[in-house]
Amino acid sequence: MKTFHIKAATGESTLLIGETLDHLPVHVPGGTAVILTDAHVEKCCGDRFPPWPVITIGTGESVKTLDTAVDIYRRLLSLEADRSSFIVGIGGGVVCDLAGFVASTYLRGVRFGFVATTLLSQVDASVGGKNGVNLDGYKNIVGIFNQPEFVICDPALLTTLPRKEILSGLGEVVKHALIQDEPLFNYLEARFEAALRLDPTVVERMVHDSIRIKAAIVGRDERESGIRRKLNFGHTFGHAYEKVTGITHGEAVSAGMMTAVALSVKRGLLGKADALRIETLLNHLSLPTALPVDRFRIWEALRKDKKRIGDALHVVLLTGIGRSVIERVSLADLQKETEGLV
Ligand SMILES: NC(=O)c1ccc[n+]([C@@H]2O[C@H](COP(=O)([O-])OP(=O)(O)OC[C@H]3O[C@@H](n4cnc5c(N)ncnc54)[C@H](O)[C@@H]3O)[C@@H](O)[C@H]2O)c1
Repeated sequence: MKTFHIKAATGESTLLIGETLDHLPVHVPGGTAVILTDAHVEKCCGDRFPPWPVITIGTGESVKTLDTAVDIYRRLLSLEADRSSFIVGIGGGVVCDLAGFVASTYLRGVRFGFVATTLLSQVDASVGGKNGVNLDGYKNIVGIFNQPEFVICDPALLTTLPRKEILSGLGEVVKHALIQDEPLFNYLEARFEAALRLDPTVVERMVHDSIRIKAAIVGRDERESGIRRKLNFGHTFGHAYEKVTGITHGEAVSAGMMTAVALSVKRGLLGKADALRIETLLNHLSLPTALPVDRFRIWEALRKDKKRIGDALHVVLLTGIGRSVIERVSLADLQKETEGLV
C-alpha cells in the first residue's frame, strides 16, 4: 500500500492506494459509519460493505442535485445520525461529490471519508476536497471545499467497471501527464493496451502518479486561486461538451484537451509534433479527440461555466508535453480564437 497526505486549510486527507475495502472499519473512528452509495456499486460490491446503515441513491450525473442531497439529509435524520456520526461515500465521483457535500453541511458538518470505486474517482474526483452538486444546468455550482479524512483506492473494485467508465478515467490520467508529468505520458504511450485492460501494474502507476500530482497541487492551492487551475486543463471545453453531448466526464475532457491543444498550437506555444503525439495517444486509448457539436450550444454552456470571472475565463494551455500555463482570456476572444477548432 502507498500513502499520500494532503494538508490543507479545510483539513487533512490520507490517500490510501492499494488499500482494500475490507479494511474500511480500521479507518473509521469508532468503527462505525453511515454508508452512501449508488445502486450499481451496491450491486457490485455491497456484499463487502461492513454491516452499517446504507443510503443508496440512483446512478449518473442527473442525481447529483440538491434534491438528492435533501433526500439524504432526511435519511440521515431517520437514522438519527448526530454530530458524532461518520459518513463514508462508496462510489464514483457522483457519490463522492454528494457524500462530501452532505457530510460538510449536515449538522454544520460531520466527519467523512471515501472509498473510490471508479478509475476516475481514484485518479481525480475523490482527491482534493471539492464537494458539490449541479443546479439548473450549472455543473458543480453549489458546493464546499472540505477534505475527506481518508480515501481508499482499492484496485480490485475496478474489475466490474464498464469499458466506457475505464476510458473516462484514462482521460483524467492523460490530463495529469500533460500538465506536468512527461514520464507518465511516455509510460502511457508505451503501455496503452495494458492501461485499457486495467493491467494491475499500470493501474497502480496511473493512480499513484495522478494522486501524487493532484495532492501536491492541492496542498499548495486548495481553493484554486492559482496553480490548481492547471487541473482544469481540458475542462473549460470539456464541461461544455459533457453537457451538450451527454458523454462521460473523462471522454468530454479528452475532446476538451484536444481543443486546448489546438489552441496551444495556434498560439505558437506547442509544436505540431507534440500535438500529434497527444492525439495519437488519445486515439489509442479510444478517447474522442473531436466531437460533432453545435457551436452555439457550446458557447451557451461556456457562459454558464462557474469558473467564469466577469466576461473572462482561465484556460490552461500546453507549452510542451508535461508543461502547462494558465492564461486569462475573454469569452469573446476565446470564441474568435477557436473559430474552426470547436
Ligand atoms: N470533486 C472533484 O474534484 C471532481 C473531479 C473530477 C470529477 N468530478 C465529478 O465526478 C463525476 C464523475 O465521476 P465518475 O466518472 O466516477 O462517475 P459516476 O460516479 O457516475 O460513476 C460512473 C458509473 O459507474 C458506476 N460504478 C461506479 N463504481 C463502479 C464499479 N466499481 N463497478 C461498476 N460500476 C461502477 C456508477 O454507478 C455509474 O453508473 C462528475 O460528476 C464530475 O463532476 C469531481
